[in-house]
Amino acid sequence: MQSTKSSQTGSKTKDQAQPVPAYDSILELAPYQTGKPVEELTREYGVSDVVKLASNENPMGCSPRVTLAITEQLGQLARYPDGNGYYLKQALSDFNNVKLECITLGNGSNDLLDILARTFVSADDAVVYSQYAFIVYSMVAKMQGATGIEVPAQRFGHNLAAMRQAVEDNANTKMVFIANPNNPTGTQLEREALRKFVGSLPSSVLVVLDEAYIEYSPESNNRALLDEFDNVIIVRTFSKAYGLAGLRIGYALSSAPVAKLLNRIRQPFNVSRIGLAAAAAALADQDFIEQVRLNNQEQMYWLENQFDALGLGFISSHANFIMVEIDNAIDVYQALLEQGVIVRPLAGYGLPNWLRITVGVAEDNMRLIDTLRSILTDD
Ligand SMILES: Cc1ncc(COP(=O)(O)O)c(C=O)c1O
Repeated sequence: MQSTKSSQTGSKTKDQAQPVPAYDSILELAPYQTGKPVEELTREYGVSDVVKLASNENPMGCSPRVTLAITEQLGQLARYPDGNGYYLKQALSDFNNVKLECITLGNGSNDLLDILARTFVSADDAVVYSQYAFIVYSMVAKMQGATGIEVPAQRFGHNLAAMRQAVEDNANTKMVFIANPNNPTGTQLEREALRKFVGSLPSSVLVVLDEAYIEYSPESNNRALLDEFDNVIIVRTFSKAYGLAGLRIGYALSSAPVAKLLNRIRQPFNVSRIGLAAAAAALADQDFIEQVRLNNQEQMYWLENQFDALGLGFISSHANFIMVEIDNAIDVYQALLEQGVIVRPLAGYGLPNWLRITVGVAEDNMRLIDTLRSILTDD
């Protein structure tokens, strides 16, 4: 049957033909563009000494306690992990001062964004998010067949007044996504403004606060909103400052009834045995997080000065990356790649003249600036 259908599609090859049509909303989706993996660059360009500043990973790695915690699990790999993640949840409950039943674990925070949309959003609903906000919000809305409402940004950040208006104009709004600090712009919302915004929305609208970069900007921690509003959900990750991107662990804090629903949709063992142990060990080492924050602060300052010296505009950032304005950004991205430096082009975000650069350790950043200088002055 399959081959008959392919041959009926005329010019389409067997690989391109859709044997079973997908939902229209899925056909419209573009796949998420990840930062180029180091291995791929080495394969494609034969460059071995690669600096990756493309995915907001932690250039300092992770706490040494993680290695020990992982080693302890190696004899247990034949056993499923604890599907409830009890010990990690206990640690997160103490750390965040929330009840155990208010926590949902995810295979990265991306998993939670997806679970949230699948739990609450249907094709009849609207989902509101900002222009230049993390692209996954629009993706999960579209995956549900929902109407995605992108609200124009204000000075590259969320325009809360306009977002509130969008909710008012679309009575079917079910969910609002806010990244604070935002990726890729690094902008941050003022705490009281955010509180007023949440208070101005109907309680039937869920507000998802994505705090993936919270460790770099503790003042963005809006954990207190959970005590005041049952419709707030905070999503966090171990992929950024904790340095565990390769393990895929995130968590959501919410009211207990919301968490109960999320846990129905969540796959039973969505966080691995190694992930659970590693995250608990990483959380316990807050001294490491302090060092990470310090490195980021010093190196961000250094990079800003270098961009100034090169005459490049940038947006002040509250996270571990910075958006830099460069003419022909895609060509500069390509030239950097060829010299072993991976950064992130932002054309997919409608920002063709910008690159997003993750803050590295001093050595990485010097390499980036030297390479960038040579590219920009090589005319
Ligand atoms: C704002 C934001 N949210 C969520 C994520 C997803 O991260 P992870 O799935 O690794 O936790 C990212 C990753 O880049 C991000 O920038």
